[in-house]
Amino acid sequence: MQLLDGKKVSEDIKNEIAAEVQRMKDNGEKVPHLAAIIVGNDGASLTYVGSKVKACERVGFESTLIKMPSTTSETELLKKIKELNTNDDIDGFIVQLPLPEQIDTQEVLMAICPSKDVDGFHPENFGKMALDMSTFIPATPFGILELLERYNVDTAGKHTVVIGRSHIVGRPMSILMGRKGFPGNSTVTLTHSHTKNITQITSQADIIITALGVPNYLKAEMVKDDVVVIDVGITRLADETNPKGYVITGDVDFENVSKKASFITPVPGGVGPMTIAMLLKNTLLARENRMC
Ligand code: GUN
Repeated sequence: MQLLDGKKVSEDIKNEIAAEVQRMKDNGEKVPHLAAIIVGNDGASLTYVGSKVKACERVGFESTLIKMPSTTSETELLKKIKELNTNDDIDGFIVQLPLPEQIDTQEVLMAICPSKDVDGFHPENFGKMALDMSTFIPATPFGILELLERYNVDTAGKHTVVIGRSHIVGRPMSILMGRKGFPGNSTVTLTHSHTKNITQITSQADIIITALGVPNYLKAEMVKDDVVVIDVGITRLADETNPKGYVITGDVDFENVSKKASFITPVPGGVGPMTIAMLLKNTLLARENRMC
């Protein structure tokens, strides 16, 4: 079994980006600037956004964090987005999800200028991705592709089973794994809450990508020998013995599934750090595209 070490690979990517930023600085060019909007006080979301801002500092990007109260109206948020769309200093920005229930997420994502949509969630960018056109690929799926590529995991002709059809991970992942090229050329099954006999499907899979958010969902009895397992789940489970008061748990029963797997991502230290690295990569692309 080989660990797909997202912590290490994401460090490699951040070093590559930092070197490019240094080159920009040496040439007197403006460095990329990422902005992030967070609405409300959800602890996990605040942690994720904080990590994104910290990663910007690490590679030499400029960053702006905009915190809005949980009572923010959709109109107020749309106004803020318009400001960022027209602010020439900002190369790309994200709106951290989920949003409070008074706000229509789709309306918000559609208001982001596609050329600054470094999350790749705007329908125009999502459509371009599905049509194999050059665009921003959502950071988590992009990170999974990068991990598969850097570990040279063979995906062509393999049966990839994606568990979960979220717009952020499962749906784009199912499209990307079926695209032409590497990593891709897979035969993809997208499973979800209405799927029947899931074990019958997962036990035939060469590659399993779980993005459910159900701790220890995928058990050893559900997979075949030499399976490749990508665990996107990050659930906080209360744990009083831990100084933070919680532990991060994936969708996979790692202890037992790893005994059968050929490649597997740990949680934490697998897909999570890759997501942040690829957001930086998209922001760098946004900056470079503006200079054309
Ligand atoms: N919430 C969970 N994952 C993501 C992500 O990749 N981007 C944003 N904006 N919100 C998220």
